[in-house]
Amino acid sequence: MELGERRISWAARAMPVLTAIGARFDDEKPLSGLTIAACLHVTAETAVLMGALRAGGARIALAASNPLSTQDDVAEALGGYDISVYARAGVDRGTYYRHIHQALDISPDLVLDDGCDLVNILHTERTDLLGQVSGGCEETTTGVIRLRQMSAEGALRFPVVAVNDTRTKRMFDNRYGTGQSTLDGIMRATNTMLAGKTVVVAGFGYCGRGVAERAKGLGSRVVVTEVDPVKALDATLQGYEVMGMGRAAEEGDVFITVTGNRDVIRGEHLAVMKDGAILANAGHFDVEIDVRALDGLGVEVHRGVRPNTDEYVLADGRRLLLLAEGRLVNLTAAEGHPAAVMDLSFSAQALAVTWLAKERFGLAPGVYDVPGEIDVEVARLKLAATGVEIDTLTAEQEEYLHSWRYGS
Ligand SMILES: NC(=O)c1ccc[n+]([C@@H]2O[C@H](COP(=O)([O-])OP(=O)(O)OC[C@H]3O[C@@H](n4cnc5c(N)ncnc54)[C@H](O)[C@@H]3O)[C@@H](O)[C@H]2O)c1
Repeated sequence: MELGERRISWAARAMPVLTAIGARFDDEKPLSGLTIAACLHVTAETAVLMGALRAGGARIALAASNPLSTQDDVAEALGGYDISVYARAGVDRGTYYRHIHQALDISPDLVLDDGCDLVNILHTERTDLLGQVSGGCEETTTGVIRLRQMSAEGALRFPVVAVNDTRTKRMFDNRYGTGQSTLDGIMRATNTMLAGKTVVVAGFGYCGRGVAERAKGLGSRVVVTEVDPVKALDATLQGYEVMGMGRAAEEGDVFITVTGNRDVIRGEHLAVMKDGAILANAGHFDVEIDVRALDGLGVEVHRGVRPNTDEYVLADGRRLLLLAEGRLVNLTAAEGHPAAVMDLSFSAQALAVTWLAKERFGLAPGVYDVPGEIDVEVARLKLAATGVEIDTLTAEQEEYLHSWRYGS
């Protein structure tokens, strides 16, 4: 078996829910006759999702949602699944967008996106295809924010399901998946000792919380920066030190941005960082660390001092280490989320696709939540697959919870 296939079958072992859904799709063919254009990280876990949708009868074209996250061997193996793949690791910006256009050439009925680049191109450069598209799914926070803005401005032309916003995605993928794989990426890139180091986590949302928890578990002193007072208070009560980036910049050994915002680490912060500070981003786009400012400050740049690590030497001799060019460190320097976590988000995604396929003509353009029953079904199947039993409500409990008549 080739490496790509071995990776896919290894991932599938940890994805029992999606595998079961794929088997059901194979029987029922709920996507028969439909074309899907997908823009997702081309990883082994995505390959398992593509396999399930293909089994359901869809014709699929896949482009990468990030030029650095593509696993080339997986991309190659997907060809054997009868899926057109337009992705190669490390391509430049122009090729990245050309690949999305090539995936769109399939004339999709449905689209799957991770970051809203494909939907954006559809609404700006490929409007000729809009008439045929009847629905889509969006995988990540940043994409959902962009879609809600499009919807508010009346620009969104079809219904999109915000897979990101399901409980099974946010609670597990963003938190545990990003938490573990971000630190995995930093360790693979630098092999740095995290115990005893000061790790600054910018953003205490679902992802940031996961990163902070894992860093704390490894023995780091964790500092959190936030702009939302409630999140900042939450971080404080969980025992993290909260401060502004201005001060954190002077104290941190490792910086991890995970805000979905831009310019979180800027020139003024870079100017006061310690020699050897490590800079990593786990937010969706490569705009959280101001790499241009870093380019401007660096008098010498040593590319690839370690895999995925560039060393910037500043005028005063301090060295700052930028990981993965400021792009998603967990997908570039590591392998993205563990398959067991992607089992949940991609199962929700697969079921949301079939829901859309059924409902699409009855839905107005806009951003939709994944139907609650899909969330519950995915969690139920995962618990069953892992052999965990839970209680069920008794009739009396059910009545008690739904009645206003009972008092103290
Ligand atoms: N690396 C991955 O694999 C992965 C996985 C899921 C999501 N993401 C991405 O990670 C980002 C965060 O996702 P999330 O689900 O945690 O979002 P979230 O909205 O739950 O959290 C983001 C947090 O960042 C804070 N923030 C915004 N601007 C800030 C600033 N300038 N300084 C400090 N904090 C700031 C917000 O107040 C918020 O609490 C998004 O871009 C999302 O697409 C990445």
